[in-house]
Amino acid sequence: MNVASRWIHRWSVVMLCLAVMTIGAYAPAEDQTASAGGYEALRTHPFLPPDFDEEVFASLWTVWPEPERSAAEKADNATRRQLTFSYYGLIPDTAAVGSNTLGLHAEALKPSPLGYVVDARGQWTMNCLACHGGKVAGQVIPGLPNSHIALQTLTEDVRTVKLQQGKMLSHLDLGSLKVPLGSSNGTTNAVIFGVALGSLRNPDMSLNLTRGLPPLLHHDVDAPPFWNVRKKKSLYADGHSPKTPRPLMQFILLPQVNLAKLTEWEPQFADILAWIESLEPPKYPFEIDLTLAARGERVFIDNCARCHGTYGADGEYEQKTIELDEVGTDPLRFRSLTREQRQGVKDSWLSRFGVDLVEVDPIGYVAPPLDGIWASAPYFHNGSVPTLWHVLHPETRPIVWKRTEDGYDREQVGLEIETFDEVPSSVKNAVHRRRYFNTQLPGKSAAGHTFPSVLNEDEKGELLQYLKTL
Ligand code: HEC
Ligand code: HEC
Repeated sequence: MNVASRWIHRWSVVMLCLAVMTIGAYAPAEDQTASAGGYEALRTHPFLPPDFDEEVFASLWTVWPEPERSAAEKADNATRRQLTFSYYGLIPDTAAVGSNTLGLHAEALKPSPLGYVVDARGQWTMNCLACHGGKVAGQVIPGLPNSHIALQTLTEDVRTVKLQQGKMLSHLDLGSLKVPLGSSNGTTNAVIFGVALGSLRNPDMSLNLTRGLPPLLHHDVDAPPFWNVRKKKSLYADGHSPKTPRPLMQFILLPQVNLAKLTEWEPQFADILAWIESLEPPKYPFEIDLTLAARGERVFIDNCARCHGTYGADGEYEQKTIELDEVGTDPLRFRSLTREQRQGVKDSWLSRFGVDLVEVDPIGYVAPPLDGIWASAPYFHNGSVPTLWHVLHPETRPIVWKRTEDGYDREQVGLEIETFDEVPSSVKNAVHRRRYFNTQLPGKSAAGHTFPSVLNEDEKGELLQYLKTL
């Protein structure tokens, strides 16, 4: 490697991580103050160097393909800002309209983005809510996965505009040259970020830039909803990671974040975890047929509860991991982390050197709690299935689908979509292709979880109504 590419390599590796960490004596803080403090930290504390500034943001539309570019050119500033949010799947912080982090900014710079901290100088820094703050049926909900995010497109355009404006490239601009960020909107290659960032660290979190990247199995994952974290005993699709603050710091393991910083910020991450665990699932806002739902509860108890638990006042959920062959959903996420890498977490600061339980040999995917399941489409760890109806009808899951911006399908319960047999050949531009979810690509299969196939149509109809009540 020459010097320039090694530099790019290091920075790229830097950006992409999932770390796993904890401090001295961590006890989950459940009080209101801690969780409010956690949310405040997320919204106001930049834990990373800035990604770009307002001037770059305001120019992004100039590099769009048609017809979006002309539409933006003709629009007034406020509309253009809205178009830009929508183009990149950025969620407006509806609570911050007219107040909050952008207090020092002119009205024209509102709304602020939920997934970024924007400082008084107009510098944007990504936060957890870029992937973990979303909207459903037009309603913004922090903690709901952002099923719109177009991180690859945003990063490519930021890089182009910065080069035009003679500005320095940031960690993500460089990192994404090495590690793809996401090939369908709404999902990201976040797990591999973590692997790459983790490969830069020794067990005590000191930097090790000599090792080079391990083999990387790129694949996109749909973030899980935060309100279920309180019910879980461990984290991530395979449940390998302890539910403690340190693993949540993986995302910030850039080389300039040293052990002193990690230690200093750990209490804030404990508060962030307290905030995550304080969240409640949103209630279904549309009509439910309660007679059918009552029958559906029976169907659920008989067919689903052994893995997903029971709900209501005396509901019980005990986290179970289901063997890959039994659940049959896409295997790439499962295979992308090696035993060695999980052992690395177990031997490191991230798990307090093994004090916090790390599952080194998980067998498959966790059957998640289904609270608020109506809101968190698309389904499965890879976000391959657009509605609950399609979860219940495995043989009819679309091969290729494309969602609308805010449409909610009340019949099938989930995203309003168009379906296709393949991505239309007229769609040539990569930016436009990322708006299609293509289940034929690696890591994106919608197969498996055929458990509902034993049910008849009446039972499925009842179950669908019941699932709305969770
Ligand atoms: C680039 C998108 C992205 C960003 C940014 C991000 N996450 Fe995630 N997060 C994900 C994805 C995808 C998963 C699922 C990974 C898996 O299950 O393998 C995840 C999983 C999690 C989980 C586990 C949830 C569960 O139910 O198991 C927690 C907790 C979490 N993230 C917290 C955070 C925090 C805190 C931050 C900020 C410091 C953050 N994430 C930043 C994408 C992101
Ligand atoms: C043998 C265990 C098992 C049974 C039985 C089972 N599931 Fe699942 N379910 C899982 C697992 C494991 C996953 C996660 C799969 C993945 O993400 O790849 C899952 C995922 C889901 C999801 C998507 C969750 C999300 O957040 O994306 C829904 C919805 C669901 N199941 C509903 C049901 C219903 C309804 C039934 C009963 C008809 C049922 N499941 C029966 C194990 C099971």
